[in-house]
Amino acid sequence: MKNIGFDIITIFPEIFHAYLGESILKRALQKELFDVKVYNLRDFTTDKHRTVDDYPYGGGPGMVMKIEPIYNAVKAVKSADYKNGLERLTVMLSPQGKAYSQEMAEGLSEYLARENRRMLFICGRYEGIDERVRESLVDEEISIGDYVLTGGELAALVIIDSIARLMPGVLGDEESAREESFTWGILDYPHYTRPPEFMGMKVPDVLLSGNHKEIWKWRRREAIKRTLQRRPDLLKRAELSEEDKEILEDINRGLCSEE
Ligand code: ADE
Repeated sequence: MKNIGFDIITIFPEIFHAYLGESILKRALQKELFDVKVYNLRDFTTDKHRTVDDYPYGGGPGMVMKIEPIYNAVKAVKSADYKNGLERLTVMLSPQGKAYSQEMAEGLSEYLARENRRMLFICGRYEGIDERVRESLVDEEISIGDYVLTGGELAALVIIDSIARLMPGVLGDEESAREESFTWGILDYPHYTRPPEFMGMKVPDVLLSGNHKEIWKWRRREAIKRTLQRRPDLLKRAELSEEDKEILEDINRGLCSEE
């Protein structure tokens, strides 16, 4: 039997049940395309107050998450891995981690697709996690962006969501057939639906023309134009076809002559 999924260690399990209990991920879980197991870190404490944090050595503000409960939780989650022939990637979420990207989501979805692979997320709260957790229990430390969240839970959900939607069968045909932002390494083109005109704002004629070749060219051009205007950094890294490069030169000429 395939064993693909995500394990999460957190002090707020409900956050995961709320998000994963809706929409596309709910459907995917019902179809058993993968599974998610959420572990309450407090269940792995040994004192009567179920303590997960303590004061920082050296002083300073805030509390630090203790290593013992996390160690106990990771050991418990991994206990049957060897017996089950399971390979696992243990991830810690923090702003100090490697910057998350669509490319990483694609790599991780391929990793899990080989079956008998799971990911384990350790979600931190408070000022941080005892450094010895990273040193001894973690394979990858990941950040979802240059800002600070109140905990790793949202980051874990962002990562799970972005990986899950790349797994076979998770998106319906209609959803997955779409050429979308970042699969090209550039931003998405603009979308429109009915009505063709709203308060004087018209849908571009080409989209109503039924000419699929022209529509494709228009979308590609708009996507490249947006990326040039909003995220030129992406264009430098994107793999552009010869046709794309011509479009880009065209846009550049257009932009210059408008000035
Ligand atoms: N925890 C707090 N902030 C975070 C971030 N930006 N990425 C991942 N985990 C975090």
